[in-house]
Amino acid sequence: MISRRDFLKDISLATLAAGSTHQLLALAAGADNAETSPGKEGMILRSFRFLDLEMPMEFVNSWITPVSHFFVRNHMFEPTSVDAAEWRLNVGGEVEKPLTLSLAELSRMEAHSITDTLECAGNGRGFQKPKVPGVQWQRGAVGTARFTGCRLTAVLERAGVKPAGKHVMFRGLDEVPGKVPSFIRSIPIEKAMDSDTLIATSMNGAPLTKHHGFPARVMVPGWIGAASVKWLTEIKVLEKEFDGNFMKPGYRWPNSPVEPGSSVNPDDTHPLTGLTVKSIIASPADGASLSGGAVHIHGAAWAGEANIVKVEISSDSGVTWKPAQLGGEQAHWAWRLWSYPWKAAKPGEYTIMCRATDSHGRTQPATAAWNPSGYLYNAIDQVKIYVQA
Ligand code: MTE
Repeated sequence: MISRRDFLKDISLATLAAGSTHQLLALAAGADNAETSPGKEGMILRSFRFLDLEMPMEFVNSWITPVSHFFVRNHMFEPTSVDAAEWRLNVGGEVEKPLTLSLAELSRMEAHSITDTLECAGNGRGFQKPKVPGVQWQRGAVGTARFTGCRLTAVLERAGVKPAGKHVMFRGLDEVPGKVPSFIRSIPIEKAMDSDTLIATSMNGAPLTKHHGFPARVMVPGWIGAASVKWLTEIKVLEKEFDGNFMKPGYRWPNSPVEPGSSVNPDDTHPLTGLTVKSIIASPADGASLSGGAVHIHGAAWAGEANIVKVEISSDSGVTWKPAQLGGEQAHWAWRLWSYPWKAAKPGEYTIMCRATDSHGRTQPATAAWNPSGYLYNAIDQVKIYVQA
């Protein structure tokens, strides 16, 4: 976790001169414990306006991430208040019968649950070299939760999608300051019709909290977090992909490999969809100094729409690799926890690495594919540790 001192060091004098001291002090306080967000104590505050909270690696100790430890990614202000009794979901566009559903009507539809690992496309951006602008997430803009709601396909079937309907657009109720565009995204009809794509109303057995999209959000399993629109208010079936800011230029991937540091024309990119293969080391922490003896190396691995087939560990900077033990808890869209018991042969400095391979044959690369927004960072994870005599 970043300390208050490091955080203050990061704020340049120029910023201090230009910004409000009150706001910056609130930011500095939050850097230690996110005390500005009750129920989210211990999280790393990556941004105060708008709220972005990262999960520290010491919280990666259960297959299901408690809501209190689940990362938060907001592009704008959360809705000040949403009255569940007043809330309505409008369904329209290329449908036979436009619908307006209340929360009570939604909750009368058949319930379905999925255990899904949600990861922000920008997770790991802070490790990109050269640096790219945006929230400087490290490892923790990811978490796994049990989401429950009704199937999106059930709502679409009730409305009757016309043959022309090829994409499904979602609008959030975010409070949009100034000229910032609303948070609207779309997914192709095939993914919308997946029997696990949900209009979720609960997370880990309790109604969604405001940070996570109360009263209803989309859950697009295996895809980048941005696809799962929070505070859902409108579903519109479109003939074409939606092309607003959060679809283009936002959340796109270059059509061909990019020289690190160079720019890319948005016309030479396509929208991000599924997550890539990735594993992270939760413990030991980078820079840890450990007394000799057994070290419990552990972490998590996920692969979006694919399954993790193996995680390998190296304790000699990547020269040799040994298989880690995969945790017993698993579900198609969810991460696997892994562990590796290790004992250093002698005192000294070690680089511990992990790399995952998935059922689509993808293996984590030594270097992540650089792109101007720093999306989908998935280089082999590594920590440097010191083993004492
Ligand atoms: N939905 C709305 N309405 N507004 C947002 O800013 N952020 C998206 C997505 N849905 C966002 C949104 C992004 S980028 C991510 S990674 C996930 O929500 C994060 O979900 P969480 O905050 O519940 O972890």
